[in-house]
Amino acid sequence: MSQPETKVSLTGIKPTGEPHLGNLIGAIRPALELVDQFESIYFIADYHALTTERDPELLRHYSRSVAATWLAAGLDPSRTTFYRQSDVPEVFELMWVLSCVTGKGLMNRAHAYKAARDRNLEAGEDPDAGVNMGLFNYPVLMAVDILAMESDVIPVGKDQVQHVEYAADIAGSFNHFYGDTYSFTIPEAIIPEGTSAQTLPGLDGRKMSKSYDNTIPLFLPEAELKKLVRRIPTDSTPVSEPKDPDSSAVFQLFEQFAAPADAAETRKRLEEGGLGWGELKNQLFGVLDEHLAPLRARYDELMEPGSELDAVLAEGAEKARQRAGRVLRRVRGAVGIAGSA
Ligand code: ADP
Ligand code: TRP
Repeated sequence: MSQPETKVSLTGIKPTGEPHLGNLIGAIRPALELVDQFESIYFIADYHALTTERDPELLRHYSRSVAATWLAAGLDPSRTTFYRQSDVPEVFELMWVLSCVTGKGLMNRAHAYKAARDRNLEAGEDPDAGVNMGLFNYPVLMAVDILAMESDVIPVGKDQVQHVEYAADIAGSFNHFYGDTYSFTIPEAIIPEGTSAQTLPGLDGRKMSKSYDNTIPLFLPEAELKKLVRRIPTDSTPVSEPKDPDSSAVFQLFEQFAAPADAAETRKRLEEGGLGWGELKNQLFGVLDEHLAPLRARYDELMEPGSELDAVLAEGAEKARQRAGRVLRRVRGAVGIAGSA
């Protein structure tokens, strides 16, 4: 009997800011663990970022920085197809074809667009004020990312599940019209273990997020990392008093990075009293720096102009284009576009 085929797992990373600890724990690490189980395809969704990013230098920087982060965090390009969305022009040709089988009503109901409309209505504005067509079409482009690579499973956070369902709907619609000649694989969202189970707190105790400006970026120089750790809020419980580890942002961060036995010991010391916040912050800085220093060194190397990063992305683009090209040829044939094979 032949082996069942390895399923294809694909996910996109939107380059909209400096990667932070929350991204590492909640997205990068869980995604890297899936590489053992699936044929993995990860890409930088730079054209998706263009829906909101208006500064070309920043977009260029974030695209590179996010790619360097994944490589520094352990992504192995010999085991994962890793590329930049914008390097695969086939995606944009497919975007048109799939737009032609996507109902506008479906897009009207997409979370991000609906939220923008609701905000406008509440403010007494025109419902579409400030909404560009990129935001409106965002789910179609995401469907193309997924379908062009014939992906089976899409590891994402909860907020992206609707988009994957849309990709499945759009694939179904195409298959309904053209399924006799070509059928897209129907994708399914998976939420990898670790994703969203752990929401890392930021410098103000709320969820660490670029939108709250409360992140600990991954690749700060040591001295700045130390300064940020000092800024995490704590209450004024005296050193000798018992403290609740689970309501402490410092402890929650420590728990993610310390060895389990050290985390358990520290939890005990907090609950018994005798461990002060200052000491715990020193411990936190210690484990963070130990973890991040080697990543930082690799990241700095990759961020140099003309580094290995460019070659890795070029090779990834080549592999991705071959895959998307195969699909595009069949789609052109199926829909009746002249010149198709
Ligand atoms: P941000 O909230 O900073 O804009 P993104 O939305 O770009 O972050 O996050 C990308 C992925 O990183 C998310 O899908 C989520 O899985 C993960 N992530 C972001 N912030 C956190 C956090 N505080 N804790 C755990 N995971 C997080
Ligand atoms: N929309 C996703 C996000 O904001 C990024 C993304 C783009 C994506 N294309 C994708 C994720 C395809 C999974 C599959 O995080």
